[in-house]
Order: sequence, then structure tokens, then C-alpha cells
Amino acid sequence: MRNIRLEHVSKAFGDEVIFDDLTLTIPSGSFFALLGPSGSGKTTLLRLIAGFETVDSGKIYLGEKDITHVPINERNINTVFQQYALFPHMNVFDNVAYSLYIRRVPANIIEQKVIKILKAVNLDRQIYKPIQQLSGGQQQRVALARAIINEPDVLLLDEPLAALDLKLRERMLVELIDLQSELKTTFVYVTHDQFDALPVADLMAIMNPDGEIEQVGTPKEIYEFPITLFVAKFVGVTNLFEGILLSENDSYKISIPDIGMFEVVITEKRKFDPGRHLLMNLRPEKIAISKQELTGFSNHLIGKVETIIYHGRSTQYGVSLPNGFIVKVFEQNEEHFPQEDIDYDDVVHLYWQKENVVLLER
Ligand SMILES: Nc1ncnc2c1ncn2[C@@H]1O[C@H](COP(=O)(O)OP(=O)(O)O)[C@@H](O)[C@H]1O
Ligand SMILES: [Mg+2]
Repeated sequence: MRNIRLEHVSKAFGDEVIFDDLTLTIPSGSFFALLGPSGSGKTTLLRLIAGFETVDSGKIYLGEKDITHVPINERNINTVFQQYALFPHMNVFDNVAYSLYIRRVPANIIEQKVIKILKAVNLDRQIYKPIQQLSGGQQQRVALARAIINEPDVLLLDEPLAALDLKLRERMLVELIDLQSELKTTFVYVTHDQFDALPVADLMAIMNPDGEIEQVGTPKEIYEFPITLFVAKFVGVTNLFEGILLSENDSYKISIPDIGMFEVVITEKRKFDPGRHLLMNLRPEKIAISKQELTGFSNHLIGKVETIIYHGRSTQYGVSLPNGFIVKVFEQNEEHFPQEDIDYDDVVHLYWQKENVVLLER
């Protein structure tokens, strides 16, 4: 196993502290996404791993090997940068083969390797095209091919799809997943865009604006069970209600002023003492909306429909409560029979299960 391990890494530029005692393990062979807002330190983290920057203190390991002070070209780590600088005067083949020419690899081996990689990134019909004649997505694939031709242990991808439009980004994401599962190379994929990270990652880390990792987990863990307010707000859309935790025998409720009392679940992993002020995090798609009274739900609210945004596959409602609070509700338009018509100003019931609520510290 060649995990990447950062241990107690600190890094400052002048008096701007980027990382203070950061520890993180990136498992070997994983598709690891690092998600954080602009300016949080994502690029700096990649540059430290690649060796373009040095730590002020702490250590970086690749497997058992301490690479903290190993030169860039001896790390077997490659990077695809946000601005993928290709050689504009060269064709696709030469761009990809460049590092092999430098290492004086025999021509027949170069040919074999380049053609294999270009097939993997779906460019085998553009082999001899000049770079300028390629689309943005194709150029991005050349950059990718160039970065993996030397079979690095680790591929660092710094917002590699930022320059592409949405459709192309979605396609490239699928191709990246395929490529990674074929190569088994560790991919560290950096993005500020949650929609990029959720579908591709085996594991993801959420970095806050102070360069601290707030949570590491599978995309599902991060989305469904955020452990901090920052993670809950940064990944996805959510409803947050502030209240006080109450307990009665073995069951728990949260009392939210002017709104009501709602059942919640307290687990061993996340224990909170009764009496504490907490936030109730409730994802919009966990809420059922209906004009009818339904049974079988642990929690219930009544409100009035203020906004309706129809997305085809789903509909997004804004439902106002008597105190003015707006609850966001996403409903999948999946019924195979005529659906209940919900209109502006309709009085609706909102329902959710206590298991779908996540409690957070303020
Ligand atoms: N070489 C550098 N010299 C000085 N400040 C830098 C340098 N590189 C990055 N920074 C600063 O470090 C912070 C984090 O930057 P960066 O790692 O690029 O964030 P991100 O990639 O998450 O947007 C920013 O405030 C940026 O201005
Ligand atoms: Mg960056």
C-alpha cells in the first residue's frame, strides 16, 4: 500500500497561515476528492504533495517513504493543473510522448505506450492532429494522457474540468472514473464544486476556508451525515432550524421556538446532552409534501406554498411557516399515476422521519 500521508503539516506564505498542523491520509488506489471553497488551500496542498512547495513543518509520506524533501521528479507523482499547458506547436502524439522522448525511451515502445493511452482517453482518432484544432475537452484529455503516460503512483488533478461546459464536464467525469478504475492509480481530485466531487469520489475531504479538514468520508456519509455546520452547508442544499434538545425516557425531541417539537435520534457516535442548543439539519428531499394527511411519519409541520420551481425530474418548493421561516422541499416527479397538484398558496403538510435529521453544533 502506497498511501499518501500528511502528518502535522504547517505552511504559511509570509504571515498568511494556510495550514496549521494538518494531518490527512489518502488511501492508495482511491479516487479521493478534496472539496473546499476558493482560497482555502487546495492547490497549495497539491503543490506540497507534488513537491512544488515545501512544508514549514511536518512530514509527507508516500507509503513508508518520507518524501517531504524528495525532489519533484523523484516522487512518481504527476499533476494535471487547472491551466493545462500543452505545447501548442506540437500534435497530440508529441505532446503525450514528450516526457518519453526526454527519457530516451525507444521509439517503438513510445509508439505502443502513446497509442494505448490515447485509446484509454478516447483520442485515438486525433493522434496526429495539431493541438490548436482540438476542442477544450479534447485538450483536457491530452493533458490527462500526458500526465499518466509515465504510470505515476499518484495523479493530482487540480480542478481539471473547470474550463469545460457542464455537458462536457459530466462526460469527462465518467471517463475519469473509468480511467481510474482501470489504472488503479491514486487520483487526488481537487474541486470547489460539490457536483463534480460527489459522483466520482470513493472518499472525500471537506476543507474549510481556514485550510482545516472538517470531515473525511464517502460522498454518502458527507452528504447524509455531515458532522459540522460548514460541511452541511457547503455540500448540497439544506434546512437548518435552531432549537433545544429535550429528553423523555429514552427518546429525544428538539424544541424549535415558534415552530414546534420534533422527534430526533441520538446515536452513540453523536451524543448530545439534553438542554443543549443545537441545529436540526434536514435535507429538502427528506421531506414529503402533500395536501393530504399522511400517516407513518415521526414528524409533521403545516405551511403554505410560496414558491414552486419545476425542474422536470423534480420540483422544488418553498413552504412558509407561520413564523415566516421558509422550508425548502425537493420532490421527485416519479409517480406513474396522476400526481397531486400542488399550487401557490396551497396549505400543505410536510412530513419527515426522525432518522433523517442530523443534529449539529451551532
Ligand atoms: N506562492 C504563493 N505566495 C503567496 N500566497 C500564496 C501562494 N500560493 C497561494 N497563496 C495563497 O494561499 C491561499 C490559498 O491558495 P490556494 O491554495 O490557491 O487555494 P485554492 O486552491 O483552495 O483556491 C490564498 O490566499 C492564496 O492567495
Ligand atoms: Mg486552486
